[in-house]
Amino acid sequence: MQILQDKKIVLGISGGIAAYKTPELVRRLKEHGADIRVVMTDGAKAFITPLTLQAVSGNHVSDSLLDSQAELAMGHIELAKWADLIIIAPATADIIARITSGMANDLLSTLCLATSAPIAIAPAMNQQMWHAKATQANISTLKHWGLHIWGPGAGEQACGDIGLGRMLDVNELVTLSSDFFADKYLKGQHWVITAGPTREAIDPVRYISNHSSGKMGYAIAHAALRSGAQVTLISGPVNIPAPTGCELVQVTSAEQMHEQALNYAPQATTFVACAAVADYRVADIADEKIKKDNKHMQISLIKNHDIVADVAKLADKPFVVGFAAETQNVEHYARGKLMRKNLDLIAANDVAKAGQGFNSDDNALTIYSAIDKIEIPLANKHIVAKQLVSLINQHYQAKNTEK
Ligand code: PMT
Repeated sequence: MQILQDKKIVLGISGGIAAYKTPELVRRLKEHGADIRVVMTDGAKAFITPLTLQAVSGNHVSDSLLDSQAELAMGHIELAKWADLIIIAPATADIIARITSGMANDLLSTLCLATSAPIAIAPAMNQQMWHAKATQANISTLKHWGLHIWGPGAGEQACGDIGLGRMLDVNELVTLSSDFFADKYLKGQHWVITAGPTREAIDPVRYISNHSSGKMGYAIAHAALRSGAQVTLISGPVNIPAPTGCELVQVTSAEQMHEQALNYAPQATTFVACAAVADYRVADIADEKIKKDNKHMQISLIKNHDIVADVAKLADKPFVVGFAAETQNVEHYARGKLMRKNLDLIAANDVAKAGQGFNSDDNALTIYSAIDKIEIPLANKHIVAKQLVSLINQHYQAKNTEK
C-alpha cells in the first residue's frame, strides 16, 4: 500500500511565484494515494487559477471564508477537522506572520487556527525577507509550537537575488509528506552513521581517496530519519545533499572522522559505519606542492585508527554495524571483520560486481551476525537501505531484550 493512501491533505496556497508549481505538487501527492483539498488566498489567485487546481485535485477549491455555497459543500470547520495534514506551500512571509499572530482574516489563516491537524509550512520568499528579524522570530515561534517547517531551499530567486528563500522542489515536498506519515518505529533512537570517502592529503593539491559517493550511507540516514530516528551523519566529501532533518558533520580525513565518531557514538543507540575510510594516511604531508623532479617517488604511509573497531571498544558502546567492501571471498572476509572488530552486524557488498557497490545507484548486501546470514537483493540503494534499517532495528531490539 502507498504511504499516502487515503491520507487527507489540505494544501494551502498563498501568493508567491512558486504557486505555479502547486498543480504538479497536487498531481504527485495524488499519485501517491492522497486525497487533496486546495485552499487559496487572494494572493495565490494572482499567480494561478482555482480552476487549474480543481482540475488536478478533482475537488472543489476553497478560496473564501464568506462563501455560502462553499460552506454548504464543506464548511471551513469541517475542512479543519477533515485534514490529516495541512501543507502551506508556498508560504509567504505574510501568511507566516498571520498564522503566528493568530489572525483569522481569510480562509487559510482561519483553518490553521481551527484545526488540530499538524501543519507543515514550506516558506517561499525573497532571501532578505526570509532573514528579516520578524520572519525569523515568527518561524522560531511556529517551530516551538510544533509546526513543521519544510525548507526553504537556497538558490537563484525569481527576483534575481541568490540565497535562502526558494520553496523546496516538488520532489522534496512529496518525500517530506511521505516521511511525515511513515511508521516511526525508530522513535527515541539516535543513529550515528558514517558515509562517503575520506581524503588523505599528500600535499596542498593532492590526496589519496576512493570511489565512495556517499549514496549508500546517505540512503541509510534517510531511511532511519523517516522511521523516526534522530540521525547524525558524519560524512566525508561527497556531491549529494544530506537528507533534510539530519545533523550533518562534515569531515575530510579519516582522523577527523575518527574524532567525530568517538565524540557522537557514546550518545548513540546505533552506529553504522558505511564510510569507505582510507586505511592509511601520509606520514609527512608536504607543506608545498611536490615537484615532479624525480623519476621515482616514495610516499610513506601510517595506519589510520580503525573507527568502527574503536567505537565497538567503548564502555557505553551503541549497537555497532560495520560494512565490508570485498572483491573476493566475501563471506570469509566479512565474518573475519565481524569478529575482529567486535561488531554486532556486518553488511557485506561484493564491489567487484558491475552495477553495484561504489558510486552506483544500486546495491546488494549480505548481512552477517554471529549466527545469521540474511540477503538483501540487488535494488536501488534507497530500497536496500530501508530493508537494512528495519533489519538492524530487529537485531537491536532482540539484543536489548536479552539484557
Ligand atoms: O558510498 P557509495 O558509493 O554509495 O558506496 C557504498 C560503499 C561501497 C562504500 C559501502 O557500501 C561500503 O561497503 N562501505 C564500507 C567500505 C569499506 O571501507 O569497507 P572495509 O571492508 O574496508 O572496512 C570495513 C569496515 O570498517 C567498514 O564499516 C568501514 O567503515 C570500517 N573502517 C575501515 C577502516 C577504518 N580505518 N575505519 C573504519 O571504521
